[in-house]
Amino acid sequence: MWNIARVMRVLSGKSILLIVAGGIAAYKSLELVRRLKDRGALVRCVLTEAGARFVTPLSLAALSGEKVHQDLFSLTDEVEMGHIRLAREADLVVVAPATADLMARMQAGMANDLASAILLATRAPILLAPSMNTAMWEHAATQANLKSLRQRGCKTVGPQDGDLACGEVGAGRLAELSDILAAIDDGFSAGPLKGLRALVTSGPTHEPIDPVRFIANRSSGKQGHAIAAALAGAGAKVTLVSGPVSIPDPAGMCVVHVETAEQMLAACQKSLPADIAVCAAAVADWKVKTPAGQKLKKAKGAAVPSLELATNPDILATLSGLKKERPRLVVGFAAETQNISAHAKAKLEAKGADWILANDVSEGSGTFGGDSNQVHLITRSGIETWPRMSKSHVAQELAERVARAFKKGKKA
Ligand code: PMT
Repeated sequence: MWNIARVMRVLSGKSILLIVAGGIAAYKSLELVRRLKDRGALVRCVLTEAGARFVTPLSLAALSGEKVHQDLFSLTDEVEMGHIRLAREADLVVVAPATADLMARMQAGMANDLASAILLATRAPILLAPSMNTAMWEHAATQANLKSLRQRGCKTVGPQDGDLACGEVGAGRLAELSDILAAIDDGFSAGPLKGLRALVTSGPTHEPIDPVRFIANRSSGKQGHAIAAALAGAGAKVTLVSGPVSIPDPAGMCVVHVETAEQMLAACQKSLPADIAVCAAAVADWKVKTPAGQKLKKAKGAAVPSLELATNPDILATLSGLKKERPRLVVGFAAETQNISAHAKAKLEAKGADWILANDVSEGSGTFGGDSNQVHLITRSGIETWPRMSKSHVAQELAERVARAFKKGKKA
């Protein structure tokens, strides 16, 4: 009884957007809609073209009490409830069943139907309940897509092992509805950072030389984006300020795209107040003092142009030094090629951060652009060396550390 009352409270008034893709398990979405409605949720359904081969829009509409959305280019739908509004108004987007095809299109950032366009446009958390044939599930492409979607912050439930509609036995069955409902409840339950706001910087900055050339570095944004996803996963309301990267935006947060260090600082200042700031971006220390308005020409025999540099603002130091609105916990990184701990300790002091994660970026370390990292956590109480692990794992460890610090009410 207590559990039911708690679940009712968790989902009451929540808006859930259920995307039903084309798989035999689509019929189970009907019962899912009913159970979510019983728990007080507002359920809007999006049915893909393939999904409509398995269940009818009429059944979903009757059970949800809402119009079912199917077409990206429906004039009436766009006027009444466009795809951006559907994406924006959801508290949680659930894809059940999530097919191999839809996950592949999500991973690639495609928006060629209503479902994929919403998945690309939404800032709400996304829960995927995959269901497919075992061979499709085990295929390297599906597993790689899933890994990348998880790194971007998508949560998954299932699939489970069992008899499949195709006659095979193995992994690929849609998770039990009770498990999907539990995962949905989890999505709304208080994570350890619920109620806290986090600001994360990520990626490089590009400092223009002329309209076509710029100064940059090798940061891919993988570490910073993973941290943003981990903090969001722990319940924080995250703003990610990202320099130019080629990886996709993580789900479930506000992402601000910038190019230069000055734009990054302005975006960070605009996103305040925040309780936590993590500066993982590889911000260019210098910019060209006066970028050329036109492309610099390589005239025959002309002198090689010389670039006069000016110092960029230091975002980490600026945030740490704020009198008003200083985040309660400011975490920086130190990218070093030698004397890592000593240089990082000096940065902790010089920039006024509370914690520094020091990593080795020397040639051959694979830190810039790679998938793994080996960091030392430097606080005012000492140095802790973490083993080499995936960047997502580093992010997860950091999020847990932040949660512990806030629980204790202190910073290290
Ligand atoms: O993006 P990836 O490919 O995943 O690689 C991850 C990473 C190596 C970029 C990341 O782990 C990392 O080390 N980020 C910090 C890179 C850096 O610029 O380090 P730094 O030692 O030069 O700067 C120290 C700190 O000051 C950093 O928190 C940096 O964000 C910040 N800084 C630096 C200069 C500046 N003008 N403003 C800043 O805020």
